[in-house]
Amino acid sequence: MAKITFITSSNEKITVAATEGSVMELAVNNNVQGIDGDCGGVCSCATCHVFVAPEDVDKVGVASEIETDMLELADDANEYSRLCCQIPVTDAIDNVVFTVAK
Ligand code: FES
Repeated sequence: MAKITFITSSNEKITVAATEGSVMELAVNNNVQGIDGDCGGVCSCATCHVFVAPEDVDKVGVASEIETDMLELADDANEYSRLCCQIPVTDAIDNVVFTVAK
């Protein structure tokens, strides 16, 4: 079970727990504002853009090439950007904090 915290653009902090699925699915299922997941998680919409807390980057891992290409289209992307549909929920990401991109 991984407990994951989202910080929305209105500074709301939402902590939820799950054992499976993607971080995007977890966010959508818990009505996290700003995570839409329009493409259903196939890495083609960038409506699941989040920033990984700098101290959690090692836990979350790096983006794939397809994901990096997609992120290049997001204006506010930075080195902490990820598309959270590409992050599986596993025990490895327990206590990770994601800030939702605007
Ligand atoms: S849900 Fe579309 S890119 Fe993540």
